[in-house]
Amino acid sequence: MSGKDKLRKFRENESFKCLHQPKTEEVLGKDYCMKGKWATNVFNNNNPITLELGCGKGEYTIALAKMYPNRNFIGIDIKGARLWKGAKEATELNMPNVAFIRTRIEFIESLFDKDEIDQIWITFADPQIKRERKRLTGPMFLNRYKNFLKPEGIINLKTDSRFLYEYTLACAQQNNLSILKGDTDIYSNPDIDPILTIKTFYEAHYLKKGLPITYLAYKIDNTQPLKFPEWDEQYWEEEEIKSHGYVPANKG
Ligand SMILES: C[S@@+](CC[C@H](N)C(=O)[O-])C[C@H]1O[C@@H](n2cnc3c(N)ncnc32)[C@H](O)[C@@H]1O
Repeated sequence: MSGKDKLRKFRENESFKCLHQPKTEEVLGKDYCMKGKWATNVFNNNNPITLELGCGKGEYTIALAKMYPNRNFIGIDIKGARLWKGAKEATELNMPNVAFIRTRIEFIESLFDKDEIDQIWITFADPQIKRERKRLTGPMFLNRYKNFLKPEGIINLKTDSRFLYEYTLACAQQNNLSILKGDTDIYSNPDIDPILTIKTFYEAHYLKKGLPITYLAYKIDNTQPLKFPEWDEQYWEEEEIKSHGYVPANKG
């Protein structure tokens, strides 16, 4: 994408009502003005809210919102040129149950209040092989999500990365979290849940390479601060290099 193209998208982003772009000073160390008010001020209803973290172009957010018109969906990503695609589609289709936020997920506690969120989807996140503290399913982030996800709330992880899948499973087991579903090759199941067949930009890329797609659903139903897992990081790193043919760091 040329720089000119990016600038055009950034300009157009300013016109999308569904796209919220908080400035750093609005979320750094303080509550964003919409915290606790997404249902009433943005969606104008009390329907449950699902987040997609690292949503990229927003394929899951948009597809889920079409499947479940009585639920609300918010996609979060830092990359404006990617969010442009989802925000444009939601605007053109006049979808009242979709919003996007351009921000760093590190600020997430400034955005949502206690029990404000029903579910989280994490789709094809960077496994952050060398940076455990940056993993979106690691305890650093789970301890943040606990502050706004309902106690019965579910986290859905869909990924090409067996490394991230196994790490997340180990983290859930280490912390005695309830695991609802785990599947290391979703498309091998003839009775696959239609919700799992939504394909993102990155998923299409990994399917072309013939990689199995994994899925894990679990709850953060432990009130204690969550701990880092003990697991065989070295083994799964080597497996990841073999399966992907490269170290899949910094996917973008
Ligand atoms: C590998 S892409 C996956 C995008 C999309 N979910 C898909 O499957 O096509 C990871 C996305 O997460 C976003 N991301 C990674 N870390 C982030 C962070 N800390 N805050 C906000 N966005 C982040 C990136 O900008 C990128 O769009």
